[in-house]
Amino acid sequence: MGGSAPDLIYETNLGKMYCGDTLKLLAGPEGQALGGKAQLVFTSPPFPLNMKKKYGNLQGEEYIEWFAGFAPKLKDLLTPDGSIVIEIGNAWEPGRPVMSTVVLKALLRFLEAGNLHLCQEFVWYNPARLPSPVQWVNVERIRVKDAFSKIWWMSPVDRPKADNRRILKEYSASMKRLIETGKYNSGKRPSEHNIGKESFKTNNAGAIPPNVLDGDDAPSLGTLLKGTNTRSHEKYQTFCRERDIPLHPARMPKELVEFFVKFLTDEGDLVFDPFGGSNTTGAVSEEFNRAWVSCEANLPYVTSSIGRFDSEDLRIVGNVDLPAATGDTDGAERLAQEAT
Ligand SMILES: C[S@@+](CC[C@H](N)C(=O)[O-])C[C@H]1O[C@@H](n2cnc3c(N)ncnc32)[C@H](O)[C@@H]1O
Repeated sequence: MGGSAPDLIYETNLGKMYCGDTLKLLAGPEGQALGGKAQLVFTSPPFPLNMKKKYGNLQGEEYIEWFAGFAPKLKDLLTPDGSIVIEIGNAWEPGRPVMSTVVLKALLRFLEAGNLHLCQEFVWYNPARLPSPVQWVNVERIRVKDAFSKIWWMSPVDRPKADNRRILKEYSASMKRLIETGKYNSGKRPSEHNIGKESFKTNNAGAIPPNVLDGDDAPSLGTLLKGTNTRSHEKYQTFCRERDIPLHPARMPKELVEFFVKFLTDEGDLVFDPFGGSNTTGAVSEEFNRAWVSCEANLPYVTSSIGRFDSEDLRIVGNVDLPAATGDTDGAERLAQEAT
């Protein structure tokens, strides 16, 4: 990473991608200039894994300290009604069939350090995840597959900008029928909810999504949000494979970013991702006309993220060695496997 400030590697009309340590970016003039401007900080930080990833992962208290250190700095970037959304997976104690509480502690410490409120917790259910931890799930069969990660939506204020009308999901077939026919049983439900005679007759153009994000409960994105990471990155993958650039091993589905970008920002607002990876956040923000800034420590990941943008929209300004496309599609897959 080196000791210097991050370099601007490429930019578009709406965004800038830096390579380097985000803490250094935030301490420098570019970071200072972002103060008070971000409507949304959306990110998936490196998490305390027990296996070695290509990027350095801290463990235990060290991780908690490091992570919480970002909170006040990211908060300073926010507009008065801005939000911070963090997606983070589960971790296990090394060599034991016991979950680590580091992630929970890190999130709590982050809230405290930034003096932030927890607006809502979400669960991203990811059925495509490979069974893990393998020893406890597949070999000894004493745990089940870990298939979700947590998403915490935080803000310094109780009422950050948000509008769930922008992320309505399609009504279920039975709900559509009900709206059409107007026939349903009103009155008290076993849950004690009192359902009025008119409650379900209004067509609100879609259902309010729940805080569990999975394929069947996708918001207005129809069936897009399968929570899998396998389908929506084709352009990115082709770009990397053809150039033998490593694929990022922990990419988010673009639909996850889309959900929060639409929910918590308006067109023209600024979205910041401090752990940019393959810049899913920047690419989705660009697609939905939001300004964006991302920073990623690892240059090959930054290089790979160029593949998310149309070349006519992008200007490479930093020192990046972009290999020419060779048509060889094996290399990047091999590198990605090594990275996991
Ligand atoms: C979980 S990944 C993010 C993946 C990303 N959301 C995507 O869709 O591709 C976390 C990233 O944070 C980067 N990272 C770790 N520490 C960093 C730091 N101090 N500054 C900038 N990036 C950092 C890692 O290199 C890694 O690519």
